[in-house]
Amino acid sequence: MDGTGDAQQMSNSVLGARSLGKTFANGSVVALEGATFDIRPGSFVSLVGPSGCGKSTLLRLIAGLIERTSGQVSVHGTDVSGPRTDVAMMFQKATLLDWRTAIENVLLPTEMARSVTKDDQKHAAELLKLVGLEEFLFAFPSQLSGGMQQRVALARLLQTGADVLLLDEPFGALDEFTRERLNVELMRIVGEVKATTLFVTHNIAEAIFLADQVFVMTPRPGRIAATIDVPFERPRPLSLQTSPEFNTLVAEVRDVLGDDH
Ligand SMILES: Nc1ncnc2c1ncn2[C@@H]1O[C@H](COP(=O)(O)OP(=O)(O)OP(=O)(O)O)[C@@H](O)[C@H]1O
Ligand SMILES: [Mg+2]
Repeated sequence: MDGTGDAQQMSNSVLGARSLGKTFANGSVVALEGATFDIRPGSFVSLVGPSGCGKSTLLRLIAGLIERTSGQVSVHGTDVSGPRTDVAMMFQKATLLDWRTAIENVLLPTEMARSVTKDDQKHAAELLKLVGLEEFLFAFPSQLSGGMQQRVALARLLQTGADVLLLDEPFGALDEFTRERLNVELMRIVGEVKATTLFVTHNIAEAIFLADQVFVMTPRPGRIAATIDVPFERPRPLSLQTSPEFNTLVAEVRDVLGDDH
């Protein structure tokens, strides 16, 4: 591909990277090397790979939380040079403020940007309904289960209005049943709000079940070793995971990861 084609392609993608790299400790730790990809608007991409392969580093580069060492990264066709309002990130831990109710936590990003209006309050209540917490608007985090707290964090993420969601193992600290249920709801929710989503997980089946595309990462140096398209229609039933087609994809990912998984 020539240089002009490259620039054109990148300006059409929601998220784009070209030979993106990041080193730490004066270059002695190569956390990410040569990441090149384009993510289509509204698509769901899972990032799977073993601990230390650079998943969080890639998300933090896209969010503008850390500076790249080499290459390019863009969101909506513009170069990432710092934190921005069209990108929102969520972590494993909910990080809610204990002394604020669920709805007050959801309203926090708005409150930090400007005065909160009645419409903002209505919107926050709608988002809490979207994540299944309409009966808990005025509950404090200590009165909510871990899964419910992550639902509040997800509503808060959506309240920012960002259409690019970076989710770093958002349900990783929860039990398997809760995680599976939240995953199904997450698929419905990002479909409804039409967000472009990059989702980090250690779990291969989860990565495939949720995504349109899976980026498989390997460590030392951290790189995207393969991109796998997931062809299954939506909505997807949980039973999809027992089908031979699904398990063929699981085997394909395992093959790329080799002994690292
Ligand atoms: N601030 C930092 N200073 C030095 N090294 C770092 C820093 N952040 C990350 N690293 C190193 O970069 C590499 C990639 O780290 P990263 O956190 O991106 O991995 P990860 O894939 O998210 O791992 P995990 O699955 O455990 O969360 C690791 O070797 C890590 O030690
Ligand atoms: Mg990480």
